[in-house]
Amino acid sequence: MVESQLESLAQSARERIGAAATAEELEAVRVEVLGRKGALAEISKGLGRLSPEDRARIGKLLNLAKNELEALLERRKQEFEEAALRAKLEAEWVDLTLPAPGPRPGVLHPLTQIQEELEDLFTSMGVVVLDGPEVETEYNNFDALNIPPDHPARDMQDTFWLTDGNCLRTHTSCVQVRGMAKLGPPLRMIAPGRVFRNEEVDPSHEHTFYQLEGMMVDRNVSIAHMLYFMKTLLRHIFGREVTVRLRPGYFPFVEPGFELDVQCLICDGQGCPVCKHSGWVELLPCGLVHPNVLRMGGIDPEEWSGFAFGLGLTRLVMMRYGIDDIRYLQSGDLRFLRQF
Ligand code: DAH
Repeated sequence: MVESQLESLAQSARERIGAAATAEELEAVRVEVLGRKGALAEISKGLGRLSPEDRARIGKLLNLAKNELEALLERRKQEFEEAALRAKLEAEWVDLTLPAPGPRPGVLHPLTQIQEELEDLFTSMGVVVLDGPEVETEYNNFDALNIPPDHPARDMQDTFWLTDGNCLRTHTSCVQVRGMAKLGPPLRMIAPGRVFRNEEVDPSHEHTFYQLEGMMVDRNVSIAHMLYFMKTLLRHIFGREVTVRLRPGYFPFVEPGFELDVQCLICDGQGCPVCKHSGWVELLPCGLVHPNVLRMGGIDPEEWSGFAFGLGLTRLVMMRYGIDDIRYLQSGDLRFLRQF
């Protein structure tokens, strides 16, 4: 009776091993039949109740069945492993003899694109493009711009100072100083470039960003000239009329000074993180060049006057493309950069 029980158990185990479709199913069969609490173990527990001859005979049969089923299980397990390996090789193979995909063409950074576009515009208006160093003297960055050492305006810009007393330029206005020395009056110059401030970084503040400085010096230059110039510039940049407002603004190197704000193009003035929920973005501070600045630049303010502006190039790019976090621009993230 135990023999037939054993035989039918072995038979059903053989069938189930053959029919198992996954390694998990196979393992379930192993546990049920050969496991510590499995069917074979159950039978061998009953051996003690048998006569010595029966015990020896059944014990032998039990062993045979156990060895046979273990071998069957092992073979089937290997089949699964081989199938898994084959599937992996099939899915992951690479034909090394195929030609490599061509290089992916790069794109210019959106800041570079906008900078080059504006350089073209200004050059066509007879304006000279100047470049200055990113490490500046304290004199060029501050003193020559009418910001003496004890002036509170120095605190307006958190400066990265170098151990040799120079600094990372906090604005492109220092190129005004270089421009006056190099070109003399009359002059029309712009200076695009990278500037640095020791700032807390958030969606609208970076320690590194880009500005485009402009300076025109001639006889009888007035606010009317400045306004005409600014409007032409903005119309070109945005390709349409944008809503602007002019507020008085204080900068030591201009008098009078203004803040030209543009209505936020990201939220259409509704308020968003870029415009700090005000609906307006400061884009174009400007003013008439302070007589002290002209004088320090070797230009006689009795004879010459001028206007200057400092366009926030980084802000401009954000407005144009609807970028709501300034940190993307310096991230080097190709997923971001490939969109331009
Ligand atoms: N240099 C100023 C800044 O970075 C911006 C600025 C304001 C530049 C007024 C100008 C100007 O030329 O006239 O905050």
